[in-house]
Amino acid sequence: MNSTTNPASDSDLFDLTGRRAVVTGASRGIGRAIALALAARGAHVIGVARSEEGLKETAELAAGTRGSLRTLATDLRSPDTAEAAVVAAAEQLGGLDVLVNNAADDHDSKIEDTDLAVYQRVLELNLQSCWVMIKAASPYLKDGGGKVINIASVLGLVGMRNDSAYIAAKHGLVGLTRAVALEWARKNVQVNAIAPGFVQTAMLPDLDANEAAAQYIRGQIPMGRWSQPEEYAGPAVFLASSASNYMTGQVLVVDGGLIAQ
Ligand SMILES: NC(=O)c1ccc[n+]([C@@H]2O[C@H](COP(=O)([O-])OP(=O)(O)OC[C@H]3O[C@@H](n4cnc5c(N)ncnc54)[C@H](OP(=O)(O)O)[C@@H]3O)[C@@H](O)[C@H]2O)c1
Repeated sequence: MNSTTNPASDSDLFDLTGRRAVVTGASRGIGRAIALALAARGAHVIGVARSEEGLKETAELAAGTRGSLRTLATDLRSPDTAEAAVVAAAEQLGGLDVLVNNAADDHDSKIEDTDLAVYQRVLELNLQSCWVMIKAASPYLKDGGGKVINIASVLGLVGMRNDSAYIAAKHGLVGLTRAVALEWARKNVQVNAIAPGFVQTAMLPDLDANEAAAQYIRGQIPMGRWSQPEEYAGPAVFLASSASNYMTGQVLVVDGGLIAQ
């Protein structure tokens, strides 16, 4: 499916024809944009999330795509359902070449105001489910030529006030990326992460309605604007394709210059 050498012609570099991919959190936001982009380049994608309605919209947006996009509605917070999702998707697809761990949620609060149960819930989805899914995917990916893409955050590389559970999880996800990349480096499976900056999705406040939040965010970012989910499609296609075959254990920061400061 994927060789250790890059294809000769530039036009093949980002081609994903026939690649079999799972994208979590595909019912909206960044996950939806990535699922659509992989399918548009020929991949057969299964998008996973809880909302059947959101998944249906994603599948409708993929109508006429070069590859295909099917969906699987499940809650990935539980290890059993996360593992089952990978196995079911791999069975449906006849194997698995690309796993995109994107589903996550956030809970902003000072550590003193955060219950242990909330911390555990954030870690269960944002970190533990990624570990479970990578482990469940290993028999398929280790056939060779596999790719794991973990959607981390700039908050996996730097800290911020009042978001300790999310930041602990995202730092953990960066560590998990590096650790598994080393374990699988000789098996021709590349494991990388993308670290988004501010993205206009349900995870951020409604920036059209909240001028104070919008101004704060613009002021932080050297490029002077936040990003849209579609701006993560290119980095994800790159990491899913043979264009990135010699890159593993890395974090691709896509943040408008935020943490270059
Ligand atoms: N937005 C930002 O500014 C930003 C910045 C840095 C990093 N990121 C990262 O980018 C990724 C995508 O975030 P986003 O901004 O696109 O957020 P989003 O719009 O809130 O999307 C989150 C996705 O995760 C799914 N999800 C949530 N809980 C789930 C569960 N228990 N089981 C299965 N799926 C679940 C949601 O679908 P359902 O609700 O249908 O389950 C949804 O599809 C996340 O890893 C996030 O940490 C975002």
